[in-house]
Amino acid sequence: MKYLKINQLKKPLSGNIDIAGAKNAALPLLAATILGRNEMTISNLPDVADIKTLLKLLEMLGAQYSLDKNIAKISTIKLDKTTATYDIVKTMRASILVLGPLLARFGHCEVSLPGGCAIGQRPVDLHLKALELMGAHIEIRAGYIYATTDGPLKGAKIVFDKVTVTGTENIVMAAALADGETTIINAAKEPEVVQLCEVLSNSGVVIKGIGTDKLVITGRNRELIDIQNFSIIPDRIEAGTYLCAGAITNSQITINKVIPEHLESILYKLKEMGFGIEKTQSSVTILPAKKIKPINLITTEYPGFPTDMQAQFMALALIANGTSIIDERLFENRFMHVSELLRMGADIHLNGSIATINGGKELFGADVMATDLRASSALVLAGLIASGETNVHRIYHLDRGYEDLEGKLNALGADITRCDESL
Ligand code: UD1
Repeated sequence: MKYLKINQLKKPLSGNIDIAGAKNAALPLLAATILGRNEMTISNLPDVADIKTLLKLLEMLGAQYSLDKNIAKISTIKLDKTTATYDIVKTMRASILVLGPLLARFGHCEVSLPGGCAIGQRPVDLHLKALELMGAHIEIRAGYIYATTDGPLKGAKIVFDKVTVTGTENIVMAAALADGETTIINAAKEPEVVQLCEVLSNSGVVIKGIGTDKLVITGRNRELIDIQNFSIIPDRIEAGTYLCAGAITNSQITINKVIPEHLESILYKLKEMGFGIEKTQSSVTILPAKKIKPINLITTEYPGFPTDMQAQFMALALIANGTSIIDERLFENRFMHVSELLRMGADIHLNGSIATINGGKELFGADVMATDLRASSALVLAGLIASGETNVHRIYHLDRGYEDLEGKLNALGADITRCDESL
């Protein structure tokens, strides 16, 4: 196993980096290729483990693909299998995204039930309930979801109890091949959901209300789609993480190849903390703060503050002059990074979903453990400013969603080495 050795930064970071394509946009779009009847080219794919996992799953289902750096050519013409096995789903919960498209195309499928994960229970009941409303018969047996339909799925009115990102994506994909019109009320509005809808829409699926919380999808009654080539949107969470790297080291850095509009809630909080922000159409520069102020933030659905940036902002709150409050509303257990930050000398108190962070305490380098994807990046951020050396272990979490994190940070002047645990 590998770990990252991070030496305290001697001088501020500086320079520019390019942001990769969004993992969470690429995953549903790769799943959507199951609805296609053609070979398509997808560009700007991030070079991260989760993408390789989904490509492998598609291959197991009978798709063919080639991957050259960030461009994949995928053909789903010969797709003929319908089982997403435990082996794959256990490594990546987002494998549940094949449920909707497989069921819509074949009328049956078997997808391993994702278990809980480090950040909480994460049920998929809303996905299943919505598919049942579309006429699916769902049974859970031996850890698998067995879904079948009599004929095509039927258009239906779905009202989601909670806003669910992958739930909305699953139902949009299922609805695209259903018989009749599906209306999704309380749909997710995340840019990644919007891109899925846009790609399907550009490929001939009639979808009204894209970008709103009410989507109306006209089904094609199992007629497969000629999916047009597309390029994945920039990763707003990767972008936010590098802005936090600039902030925590009080540096000036620029991130390129971003859509600043997708970063509004993050930029707003950085400005509240006292950092300067300059934007162009496709870049954001963060400028040092004179005094770093504490923040209050609540994680919520887009366009609110993303839960996927909560851990990084907690690291950032450690250097604020005063007490910050973070309220995690989406996932009940998404504070696993707290105990690791405490080992570095942080002063954080947890009370249910609320973390109180007393900033300004000296941080010490330590051996710390990554527990989930975003928690890992928070530990790296803390390592940049902690005295001495910080070793972040179990970085396979990090590799699931960040393309060459240490390479990009080192290009900005950090001193991070990937090491082998056994050495
Ligand atoms: C997606 C993102 C993840 C992000 C999360 C919230 C992907 C691949 N992952 O995860 O990075 O942190 O959105 O922005 O895009 N819920 C239920 N029942 C369900 C589904 C969800 O109760 O059937 C609950 C969840 O437990 C959670 C809330 O709804 O409390 C939102 O979860 P959801 O939006 O579904 O998260 P994911 O789509 O899994």
